[in-house]
Amino acid sequence: MTITFPKLYTSLAKYYDRLEGQYRDYEKEGQWLRSLLRETRSTRIIDISCGTGRHLEGITARRETSIQYDRVIAMDASKEMTLIARDRVSENCKVETIRGDFLNIPFPDKSFDFAICMYWSLAGLDHEHTKILFHEVSRILQDSGILVFDVENAEGIKENLLEEPFIDSFFSDPDTSSSIIRANLSRKVKPDLVDWHAYYLIERDGVSELINDEMKLRFYSRSTLESFLTDSGFSVKTVSSSAGGNYVDKSPSLYFIAEKETR
Ligand SMILES: C[S@@+](CC[C@H](N)C(=O)[O-])C[C@H]1O[C@@H](n2cnc3c(N)ncnc32)[C@H](O)[C@@H]1O
Repeated sequence: MTITFPKLYTSLAKYYDRLEGQYRDYEKEGQWLRSLLRETRSTRIIDISCGTGRHLEGITARRETSIQYDRVIAMDASKEMTLIARDRVSENCKVETIRGDFLNIPFPDKSFDFAICMYWSLAGLDHEHTKILFHEVSRILQDSGILVFDVENAEGIKENLLEEPFIDSFFSDPDTSSSIIRANLSRKVKPDLVDWHAYYLIERDGVSELINDEMKLRFYSRSTLESFLTDSGFSVKTVSSSAGGNYVDKSPSLYFIAEKETR
């Protein structure tokens, strides 16, 4: 598969944390993941779309002394994301950062007992590729291994954010003496597909540059994912609307914990 990334993951990756951090509670998700790791006694962990490494930072930087990790892999297909993640987590215990495609994960069968794929990383996939991803994760997990991921819920699309432009970010970057403003415009093109466009206005030394970005965002229904997971040899342990929270009908996000069945 040729991977096409939005600029948010490549040339603008240096702004990713400023732009997207407002939508996530990485601290809370890190705590939740740490408690799952403790409960499942997992020691070989892979983040298959680590982005800037925020989840692995939470898992490894504040390690509980009771957890001994054997191996922690931070993987992402974007070179720029991988470099940022490397800077963030390289000092932490046993974290190796690699560039790799989650549809063709470069590890042998049963290499891990815990895999994560967080913050809507499946949004760029179609259903066939999502099935491939689940098969790949199932392959690299040992029996009873755990997959944790979250998606945007097709039954909870925030219709009020569609068809209307809105500005969600404006900040200064002291490193490049730039000011950055992001405007967004999203349109639903199918019941489960949103065409997202972003316009970044970047001003430096009185000169402005307008950069366009775009991505087709796939939303998923709970039942579709449950069926794909079952077909890939997983049993679904929990589905919730937030990290460690309850399931609420029509919530914007769905968080899955799936366990690889013993065959
Ligand atoms: C929305 S970001 C989430 C990043 C991170 N997990 C977080 O929580 O901030 C999606 C990530 O998926 C990565 N990605 C997209 N396609 C990929 C692929 N085929 N293999 C591995 N990573 C991929 C992107 O480069 C990007 O870093």
